[in-house]
Amino acid sequence: MAHLLSTSCSLNIPSCRKPSFQQLNQGLIGLPTSFTVKTSKSPIQTVILSAQRSQRCHTVYATATPFTPTQSRSGLHQSSNDPSKAKRVMIIGGDGYCGWATALHLSNKGYEVAIVDSLIRRLFDHQLGLDSLTPIASIHDRLRCWKSLTGKNIELYIGDICDFEFLSESFKSFEPDAVVHFGEQRSAPYSMIDRSRAVFTQHNNVIGTLNVLFAMKEFRQECHLVKLGTMGEYGTPNIDIEEGYITINHNGRTDTLPYPKQASSFYHLSKVHDSHNIAFTCKAWGIRATDLNQGVVYGVRTDETAMHEELCNRLDYDGVFGTALNRFCVQAAVGHPLTVYGKGGQTRGYLDIRDTVQCVELAIANPAQPGEFRVFNQFTEQFSVNQLAALVTKAGEKLGLDVKTISVPNPRVEAEEHYYNAKHTKLIELGLQPHILSDSLLDSLLNFAIQFKDRVDSKQIMPSVSWRKIGTKPKTVAA
Ligand SMILES: NC(=O)c1ccc[n+]([C@@H]2O[C@H](COP(=O)([O-])OP(=O)(O)OC[C@H]3O[C@@H](n4cnc5c(N)ncnc54)[C@H](O)[C@@H]3O)[C@@H](O)[C@H]2O)c1
Repeated sequence: MAHLLSTSCSLNIPSCRKPSFQQLNQGLIGLPTSFTVKTSKSPIQTVILSAQRSQRCHTVYATATPFTPTQSRSGLHQSSNDPSKAKRVMIIGGDGYCGWATALHLSNKGYEVAIVDSLIRRLFDHQLGLDSLTPIASIHDRLRCWKSLTGKNIELYIGDICDFEFLSESFKSFEPDAVVHFGEQRSAPYSMIDRSRAVFTQHNNVIGTLNVLFAMKEFRQECHLVKLGTMGEYGTPNIDIEEGYITINHNGRTDTLPYPKQASSFYHLSKVHDSHNIAFTCKAWGIRATDLNQGVVYGVRTDETAMHEELCNRLDYDGVFGTALNRFCVQAAVGHPLTVYGKGGQTRGYLDIRDTVQCVELAIANPAQPGEFRVFNQFTEQFSVNQLAALVTKAGEKLGLDVKTISVPNPRVEAEEHYYNAKHTKLIELGLQPHILSDSLLDSLLNFAIQFKDRVDSKQIMPSVSWRKIGTKPKTVAA
């Protein structure tokens, strides 16, 4: 039986159920436990073991203002059919990079927001010895700060969505009109470290998403799922990439079919499996869903996260979680050569984090129809890795930085020179106004990196995970 606890001061929480314990407990169910001696001796490991021994399931319900979690919402708000009432949006993974910015953005726009997160992303950092370039406040401090600045409450459910009982309680308590699902292990290199991380990634992502689908069917049939997929699901075919579907003529017959998927890591494959499960439940149960095949996100500031230092977003630059442009800016700031993998012709779609939050808002405001599985390619521009390196070099020179680029052996298995032309018109048609990568954005990102350069651990910069060397033996990645 899941217990709903409140971390608000008005409740008396027994010491064995302190929020910090609950956060770790929830985040660790199903996590690969076979880490290096370094990490396994940490207090976190102790919590894993005690949690497994007790075989108990705890759910923390936390809110900045006291609230009785078991109270039905029916008396508190009208259904989503009443246009005068704010839509209720559950953001799974709302403590992460994209989720945090989106939660604040939607709250600011007048949506009623709840964050559901196991906080496991913070745990990955502890286990691998990594850290965000920017100091980030605890989720509780973040939410208290937001409430004190804006008067707006964001509800918080801390737990693992792979735990269906926890997820059910969260659905019944919050009664979402839309669910934005960011809550997955999202690093391709992490999924390629060793067998246990590969299995963890697919279990966490695929089972978590399946649970969300079942919770929608069971408790919120009308609810709209906005699921974060990735452009990496398509791979790099030698033809144009369409938005989700392609019309094919074959032996004199024509059909519109799901666009072929050629994912290139166990992480990307988990997203493909998710997409298939969602498409099937749209057909079978009438679920309404939008799959946002997102490109690589860059940038750190949004209007809301810039309001106070405690609202600051995370910025990853390491070889496991750092994404290309953010990583290059940090490398330039600390005088480390930009690390281009292989030939550098790898071309992908990119977008500013300010556009991520805009795209999600557009998807929610224009929901899919019951039974519809809609796919949008969510990026604004395409760049090769070499083009990004050249842009960062130019911007760095303007700031007086001496930026060098080196080619390092490519740890991934991927085409290094290829055709790439992906469609991305559907979000523009809904009203997306893109922030194009400009000199001023690069300046501000570089200045941000310079501001925090003392926090950079240069040992974490080089790639340390090889697609070819993955094996069954548990590995560490930090030196
Ligand atoms: N960041 C990018 O460039 C990018 C690009 C394409 C797609 N995406 C997708 O967007 C989503 C968010 O990415 P991000 O960069 O914000 O990742 P992130 O790791 O910063 O955030 C993910 C959040 O989900 C939470 N989470 C993970 N598993 C969970 C579970 N089982 N139960 C509850 N919470 C869980 C984590 O604790 C974390 O806070 C991911 O699905 C990712 O695949 C991201």
